[in-house]
Amino acid sequence: LKVGILISGRGSNMAALIEAARTPDYPAEIAVVVSNVASAAGLKTAQEAGVPTAVVPHREFPDRESFDRVVSAELEKHGVGLVALAGFMRIQSPWFPTHWKNRIVNIHPSLLPSFPGLRVQQQAIDAGSRISGCTVHFVTADLDAGPIIAQAAVPVLPEDTADTLAARILRQEHRLYPMVVRWFAEGRLSVAGSRVAVAGVPQ
Ligand code: GRF
Repeated sequence: LKVGILISGRGSNMAALIEAARTPDYPAEIAVVVSNVASAAGLKTAQEAGVPTAVVPHREFPDRESFDRVVSAELEKHGVGLVALAGFMRIQSPWFPTHWKNRIVNIHPSLLPSFPGLRVQQQAIDAGSRISGCTVHFVTADLDAGPIIAQAAVPVLPEDTADTLAARILRQEHRLYPMVVRWFAEGRLSVAGSRVAVAGVPQ
């Protein structure tokens, strides 16, 4: 399976996927990394790992859909069968998740459906949550609301700041995302309405 990763910044989840894909028995390869931001640190990481990269600057497009179509063409040029959003900070037009239906996933640093959107670690702290974590889900036209594939939980500690909580969650993100991409590549995921079944994993 060829995976295309969309990033806008640091790219630590992208790096975790690239690293996983290097292990001999991994059923997916990272075919391309696309960023809407030319200065994204993750682009350099990808290049150093020998992964093709592309920049599609969103400001050069009159609307979201025309940007999305160019990103999509870039992914298709590389034969991508799964799109993984990894810190991609653009809201997409409905066209994109429709075009890639059930072939596009995202990672989000909260236990959805709690805390969609931005600055979610601070939101979890402010809400007094005792547990937070991360979610990998299929992407639909509704922001952070597609069918949930997998989650990992971490404690929220009394002394936590948004940064310390984010770091604890990130360690789980780096474990969870490669696992889910593996499941997808092995054909083990099936979506029925809002529920995802994972073949071979007790649930
Ligand atoms: C991660 O916390 C991810 O869950 C969220 O954005 C952050 C991206 O970090 N969607 P990185 O670029 O993968 O390091």
